[in-house]
Amino acid sequence: MDHFEYRNGELHAENVPVSEIVRRHGTPCYVYSRATLTRHYQAFDRALAGVDHLVCYAVKANASLAVLQVLARLGSGFDIVSGGELVRVLRAGGDARKVVFSGVGKTAAEMKQALVAGVGCFNVESEAELLRLSEIAAGLRKRAPVALRVNPDVDPKTHPYIATGLKQNKFGVEMSAAEPLYRRARDLPGLEIAGIACHIGSQVLELQPFLDALDRVLVLVDRLRDRGIPFTHLDVGGGLGVRYQEENPPSPSELAGAVLARLAGRKLKILMEPGRAIAGNAGVLLTRVEYLKSTPDKNFAIVDAAMNDLLRPALYDAWHAILPVTETTAAPKRVYDVVGPVCESGDWLGRDRELAIAPGDVLAVRTAGAYGFAMSSNYNARPRAAEIMVDGKQFHLIRARESLDDLLRGETLWPG
Ligand code: LLP
Repeated sequence: MDHFEYRNGELHAENVPVSEIVRRHGTPCYVYSRATLTRHYQAFDRALAGVDHLVCYAVKANASLAVLQVLARLGSGFDIVSGGELVRVLRAGGDARKVVFSGVGKTAAEMKQALVAGVGCFNVESEAELLRLSEIAAGLRKRAPVALRVNPDVDPKTHPYIATGLKQNKFGVEMSAAEPLYRRARDLPGLEIAGIACHIGSQVLELQPFLDALDRVLVLVDRLRDRGIPFTHLDVGGGLGVRYQEENPPSPSELAGAVLARLAGRKLKILMEPGRAIAGNAGVLLTRVEYLKSTPDKNFAIVDAAMNDLLRPALYDAWHAILPVTETTAAPKRVYDVVGPVCESGDWLGRDRELAIAPGDVLAVRTAGAYGFAMSSNYNARPRAAEIMVDGKQFHLIRARESLDDLLRGETLWPG
């Protein structure tokens, strides 16, 4: 459930008519509901309440400062994948000790930055990374807390671009290599073993792949404990899907319940790294219809948001609901492809959508809070959209629309 609903034919974000936000801040813009972010974070936190746990929101889904701030105030931890995300978490008031640092390509500079900040755990994805991390930590006279991210070779049954736990993916360490690597890690001077991590993919819509992965990881957990290798936590990753159209993903409590049941008394702190399930339905993208254009084959609604603002349809063929912000319009119903101004035929937000719209109407693209603004770009020299957060009756601009000057920042002409 989210807090975007129609009242008297007008889409509201919590208690604010979104048309009021458009009047103040223009389009395209992203609008987030603070209550929805809070509700979704708490759904995970409460689902794990019976055990020692930490919900580490996956920053990549939506890294905007005010979003991170809302979650930090609720006590959230964070899953990061870059030094940039670390800076954002700290600037938003997040606690470095509650940060896990994932990713296959951590640079030496990022490792140093994270060690100095005191992050809670490095999720290490290869032997080479393990050696580099030990060397850098030892040079700083520190011990880096580590978990090995294992690759359980499980099919998460999602889009191939966002499946990460199959053996052909670049992620994690294969199961058979994990135990020798843990022994290696135990003997390296700059490391301290903290846990085991696993993440199988994103927009996962069934429990079974999570449980299959967990079963494989638990074999390793038991083996390491038998060998006297000490560690305290199990990070089961993120990946829980959301509803874009007709999907019926398990709830956070169903996922957490199934995970906890599988632990069968093993004493482990549980970490989870949800991104989409917290932020996805907490955001919409608002865009204005510029032109309606009909060809013998198609009707196009040309809007002022494009693939640079929301890449998911173009990149993954993803489906997002597109609805008029004001339901009452005299315009005739037609089937439209909703497209942006970018010069690519792949620049579409939705295809074959039945809409009753006229130029100037505003549309809401739903479930855009995760991997929406975060994946936006300046392609076609388009300034990135504004972001607004709603809290009850109030709304606040949390990121100004980029200006044309912003687009030129940092560039220089060839001298002479
Ligand atoms: N942990 C790790 C190690 C990850 O790689 C990811 C996502 C997450 C957690 C969070 O997954 P989530 O709970 O959000 O599913 N841009 C794509 C999604 C890419 C996901 C990458 N990794 C999309 O728009 O569908």
